[in-house]
Amino acid sequence: MSVNQYWIERWEESQIGFHLPETHPGLLRWFSDSQVLEQSKVFVPLCGKSLDMIWLLQQGCQVIGVEVSQLAVDAFMQEQTLSPKKMLLPDFSLWRVDKLQIYCGDFFRLSANALSGVSDVYDRAALVALDKPLRQQYIEHLLTIIPENCNIFLITVDYDPSEMSGPPFAVPDTEVHEYFSSDFIINKLSEENVLAAHQHFADKGLSSLIERIYRLSPISDHDDHSC
Ligand SMILES: C[S@@+](CC[C@H](N)C(=O)[O-])C[C@H]1O[C@@H](n2cnc3c(N)ncnc32)[C@H](O)[C@@H]1O
Repeated sequence: MSVNQYWIERWEESQIGFHLPETHPGLLRWFSDSQVLEQSKVFVPLCGKSLDMIWLLQQGCQVIGVEVSQLAVDAFMQEQTLSPKKMLLPDFSLWRVDKLQIYCGDFFRLSANALSGVSDVYDRAALVALDKPLRQQYIEHLLTIIPENCNIFLITVDYDPSEMSGPPFAVPDTEVHEYFSSDFIINKLSEENVLAAHQHFADKGLSSLIERIYRLSPISDHDDHSC
């Protein structure tokens, strides 16, 4: 089974334990403090039916999501009582309503054109949804399609991989540095054991579940790091 088919079937079987019934607390705590202005255009890769998109829209942001499961996009629109216009593109169906656009299709087919003007990426449960080979491809593709001056707000999880197999996959701090340190200033905003709030992971055998939140700011040509 392809990875995309795996996710499509998870939605069909309602195996969506990753979906939060409320806005992620990290978004509320950190994103509003950062540069989210009414002019912000936020890309939400692997968006599912995340309520974080609603919160971002409520802040006045434009939001662009990409999600492979049509069922997820449909559920999002219905649950939020939105009536989107749908357009068929070669690789996607594009669902648009007010300041929201969701590309339904494969993230790896998304091109830079779709993300023109994007100022921020919001990645919660996207990078960690993928195994390591796919994570590397994900980062490579992401960095190809986002505009040069784009910030990334990233939420990862980390645990002892001998205790559980993903998804979500454990992404250690060192791996985040491996992916981003040459292009971004990496600011770790928080690091917290959140296992108590995720009993189902304790039931699966985890002894700790570390959630880290990062703000990644692009290193511009003007940042002089020489002596
Ligand atoms: C762990 S869920 C996270 C969803 C959302 N970010 C959230 O916080 O609830 C990962 C999502 O990515 C979607 N997905 C996986 N691979 C994808 C791909 N290649 N292109 C687009 N969406 C994908 C899945 O269908 C699933 O909804």
